[in-house]
Amino acid sequence: MNIIVTGIQPTGSGSPHMGNYLGAIKSIPKLIKSSEAYVMVADVHATTVDFEPSELKKSSLLTAASLIAAGVPDDIIFKQSCVPQHYELAIYLSHLASVGQMERMTQYKDKSEEKGVGFGLLSYPILMAADILSYNATTVPAGIDQHQHVQLAADLARKLNNKIGEDYLNIPKPKFTKNPKIMDILNPDKKMSKSSANQNGVLYLTDTIDIAVNKIKRATTDSKPYFTDGFDDQSDAIKNLIVIISELMEITTDDVCIQLQGKRYSDLKNMLISAYSEHIIPIKEQIDYMMNNNQSYINECIDAGSERAEKTSNSNVKIIRNKLGLGL
Ligand code: TYM
Repeated sequence: MNIIVTGIQPTGSGSPHMGNYLGAIKSIPKLIKSSEAYVMVADVHATTVDFEPSELKKSSLLTAASLIAAGVPDDIIFKQSCVPQHYELAIYLSHLASVGQMERMTQYKDKSEEKGVGFGLLSYPILMAADILSYNATTVPAGIDQHQHVQLAADLARKLNNKIGEDYLNIPKPKFTKNPKIMDILNPDKKMSKSSANQNGVLYLTDTIDIAVNKIKRATTDSKPYFTDGFDDQSDAIKNLIVIISELMEITTDDVCIQLQGKRYSDLKNMLISAYSEHIIPIKEQIDYMMNNNQSYINECIDAGSERAEKTSNSNVKIIRNKLGLGL
């Protein structure tokens, strides 16, 4: 049986961006067919950076609403902070990890130069490993930036199996989409990220059509007057826009290039605007509807989903606790 676990942080307003959507969220509904699946709003992870307690519940609600609006079944969504078994397993796993291994994590290395970096940033991947292993997951749908973290989870699963002398835990594997790294549309050498200094390069699911059009119009393109050649010959900026269009419209990147031959770069942007309004605006409208009229429904989903998640993770963590010689 395939056991799928994935998560998304409710940082910022809580709205996922196009990287989150195309790199992970959009693939979930298809992937989970005939699998057991758990999709979490990783609100505890969001506390590893500066955060505002009075905003966190709202942004978590918005993330959950976005997952539902994007087609993730409402009964598999839960909140990380509602399942404390993750923290218990994280402690056991942290005793199997080495400090050096944690310091080598790329996301930590990237941020560790910043002033006042918290310990949570170092221990973050262990909590993520616990998120995965407390469901005994086999598969983790995620963008490429989470590859190293899933590898750490696999390594800690092997170490724990070794310690208890049996293959109790599955060794989780990442599941990437065809395009697991969506780039910033303004600075195409950087991945699209909620923390980008210039937010004009980041398209959010909750952007109004006017805001999205504005961002797309400013997107970096090419200095050539007309669109020529196939996908492989395009610059990174153009490739990224083509990828976003192809993923939204579910056509190949070659098909996009064929449709654009001899046209202007403004036509490429218009194609993106029309794909955006056809595929993302309906999701935005559903998010808005839930947030404005039906927050109790989102809360009920989180409640029921968290109860279900806690049941599974409690029974797994109890077994692990016992196998480690702990508990009664
Ligand atoms: P987060 O919140 O940064 O991102 C959520 C998902 O979106 C993917 N992603 C991208 N994919 C393609 N292009 C991009 N530019 C891009 N930016 C983000 C991420 O890879 C991720 O799949 N630590 C995780 C959350 C988490 C988690 C877990 C994930 C907590 N526990 C357990 C899987 C399993 C994170 O910060 O994702």
